[in-house]
Amino acid sequence: MSATSAPPSGKFGSRIGFILAAAGSAIGLGNIWRFPYTTGEYGGAAFVLVYLGFVVLIGVPVLLAELSIGRASGKNPVGAFRELDPGTGKGWTWVGGLGVVTGFGILSFYSVIAGWTLSYLGRALSGTFASTVSPEESGRIFGEIISSPLETVGMAAAFLLLTAVVVRGGVSGGIERASKVLMPVFFVILVVLAARALTLPGGGEGLRFLFSPDFSKLSGEAVMSALGQALFSLSLGMGAMITYGSYLEKKEGLGMAGVSVAVFDTGIAILAGLIIFPALFSVGAKPSAGPGLVFVAMPAIFHSMPLGQAFGAAFYALLAVAALTSTISLLEVVVAYFVGERGWKRERAVWAVTGACLLLAIPSALSQGAVDGLGKFAFEQSFLDLMNIIFGNVSLSLGALLIALFAGWRWGAQKALDEMNGLPLGGVWALAIKVLCPIAIGGVMIYILVTGNFF
Ligand code: TRP
Repeated sequence: MSATSAPPSGKFGSRIGFILAAAGSAIGLGNIWRFPYTTGEYGGAAFVLVYLGFVVLIGVPVLLAELSIGRASGKNPVGAFRELDPGTGKGWTWVGGLGVVTGFGILSFYSVIAGWTLSYLGRALSGTFASTVSPEESGRIFGEIISSPLETVGMAAAFLLLTAVVVRGGVSGGIERASKVLMPVFFVILVVLAARALTLPGGGEGLRFLFSPDFSKLSGEAVMSALGQALFSLSLGMGAMITYGSYLEKKEGLGMAGVSVAVFDTGIAILAGLIIFPALFSVGAKPSAGPGLVFVAMPAIFHSMPLGQAFGAAFYALLAVAALTSTISLLEVVVAYFVGERGWKRERAVWAVTGACLLLAIPSALSQGAVDGLGKFAFEQSFLDLMNIIFGNVSLSLGALLIALFAGWRWGAQKALDEMNGLPLGGVWALAIKVLCPIAIGGVMIYILVTGNFF
């Protein structure tokens, strides 16, 4: 590994440290915010089943491919493709470049949503939600937050700044140690909230929505979104796991590490569903409310439980931490590129990327009610939704397709398997990465292009 491409922290100290960092990248707003509202939008259980199928058939194989590409090369995504390409090493670096651009794009809208969690944390602490009963009232507060230009832009900027400060200092210092404690606490709180939500009157309806599938509701758009969600939630398709793999010690086996990350991440998404849908149905709100879903639904739970205000504050604080461990991985990829490929000083890369990202975050932040023209920007979508679709779905799918082709055919499945140090069922992995992933991802993309029923 070249010294310039590593964060000051160097390699991960232990496998558990790596699993926590990679799980920290994977677990975030994708699980708590994006999974429930996409599931709600596409009708529930059938979407969940397709999503789970994609996690197993595409997510896990691509995750292992990214980790082995990263560790074998010890480089940022662009450098990794150059290093491992047996040819001239030019053509495939574009895949890494696409990943860097995608990471930048995701970070721009992700920090807007992360900013909302800060707003909610402030309101939970000041007791605003203690008096909230109806979904209308909670919806009104949400609307107030997202349509205030000062608040949305300010909070997104604050979140980006927080991310920059951590990435500048190196990943494995305070934040890694802190998340070792905080993530298990978050998990416990989620379990308590799920227990409360499931016992709310009418909560069973939410369970049915989540687990009893109606396949007639499944559109091509839903299948594409399920693929995008599987990749997004596992932080795949743009090189985050290549970058994290490059910080992993050579002696570690990759199989267990990869599978544990996928299991944690998917478990947390389902847990979030077990909280949000029972709560929604018990207050009679609609699951198809879009990106505001979680923010509107959660106060209903806090209101209905003892110590609700404390639980509310803890929930938003920990959600912000979970989001932070994800934004760190996004910024880290872009910074690793400028440091490793362009020879920039880490400090300069961090501030330049953060500043540019804030500029792109502003239209997203203003698109949720503050500025009308951005609310229906193109294809009837808001600027934020458009960023989410372009970078969080299409671009990740394309990236995952190219990564699978590279690992399976160009670099070679056998080399990847050697790097994994004895993956059980290695033959199955090779088949998945060479044949199944390209056909499934390519098939979904072609279907969408041909039918054009995406937007
Ligand atoms: N997976 C994170 C979440 O679920 C978001 C994220 C972090 C991400 N790094 C990524 C998504 C890289 C795609 C690619 O919140």
